[in-house]
Amino acid sequence: MFESVPTAPPDTILGLTEAFLRDERPHKINLSVGVYKDASGATPILEVVKEAERRLLATEKSKGYKPISGDPAYGRCVRELLFGAGSELASGDLAATCHTPGGTGALRLAADYLRQQHSGTKIWLSDPTWDNHGKVFKAAGLECGTYPYFDAAKNGLAFEAMVEGLSAVRAGDTVLLHACCHNPTGVDPTPEQWQQLGALLRERGALPLVDFAYQGFGRGVDEDAVGVRALVDAVDELLICSSFSKNFGLYNERTGALTVKGKRAEEVAAVFSQLKTCARTNYSNPPAHGGAIVTTILTDAELRQRWIDEVAGMRDRINGMRQLFVETLAARGATRDFSFIVDQKGMFSFSGLTKAQVERLRDEHAIYIVGSGRINVAGMTETNMGPLCDAIVQVM
Ligand code: LMR
Repeated sequence: MFESVPTAPPDTILGLTEAFLRDERPHKINLSVGVYKDASGATPILEVVKEAERRLLATEKSKGYKPISGDPAYGRCVRELLFGAGSELASGDLAATCHTPGGTGALRLAADYLRQQHSGTKIWLSDPTWDNHGKVFKAAGLECGTYPYFDAAKNGLAFEAMVEGLSAVRAGDTVLLHACCHNPTGVDPTPEQWQQLGALLRERGALPLVDFAYQGFGRGVDEDAVGVRALVDAVDELLICSSFSKNFGLYNERTGALTVKGKRAEEVAAVFSQLKTCARTNYSNPPAHGGAIVTTILTDAELRQRWIDEVAGMRDRINGMRQLFVETLAARGATRDFSFIVDQKGMFSFSGLTKAQVERLRDEHAIYIVGSGRINVAGMTETNMGPLCDAIVQVM
């Protein structure tokens, strides 16, 4: 049976790290996958995470299964991050949360649910979007469409075109939005534009599905939830996928969540029951450790504050690297103006480099970035900045 199986192409993001690891050139630089690195080039474990792990090690009594949807305490922590600590949605019965294996697990759970319960829905993705979005939704059997998002000439949000594109959305369709730090462009709607988007989706009768993978990396933990909260004010129903890979540094613990917010408690309960069925037939129940870390931190006032401070530290370092990147490019002779990169938010810089330039960076300089020209700013350091900028100037 296996004789006729063709080889699948490598993943457009994680496949680059596989190629990077095989690359024997000693000066190689990996700025492809979105992973935070500190000034020394290491991906650190947050100190507050280590403290939470020490506490868990001392108190954990069992490795028994978690409920299909994870611990209720974890769900409550997730909703407090999304809706605000004092929000009724954090504790009431109009929202419910499933603990999932990472943000990708949440997206796939949402996709399976949509395919099973809303089979006519078409899911609309921003153009461009995270390379894996379309693949996850298509794997679940959903039809995908795109709406304009990025204005390459302005290096900013193509808001008018976005609104026009979303006007084609039918009632019952699903619209995927990035809550903040849009991946790959780093360009987000303003709070006013979020309100307009909320009103538009309400008018179209579309379901927002929000991908929230970088909370705290844009402006701040609460500030980055402005889009989600504007949507909550505008529409009755939405789904939100959370990832704690980046903001808790829990990449390999696969820690995420899918939250449903509805209009009536009984409807939320019904959707939640379907989500549990999807989870049970997919991965049964979630991995415990990452969720336990997040819950330990967010339910302790002192640890929570330490986490907020550490997230701010990561955000500040990334913003410092953005500034240095733009300055170093200019100093090394770049003729193009890259100052727009300072305004982008989150881990990535959407550089405007072409596919051919990206390939030359890899082949001639051992520098790995994603084919769209997306560069992981969070992987830049004072040490790799010079060689990186020299190489970019050469391939331009
Ligand atoms: C990325 O976009 O690089 C990250 O979200 C990691 C991934 O899984 O692709």
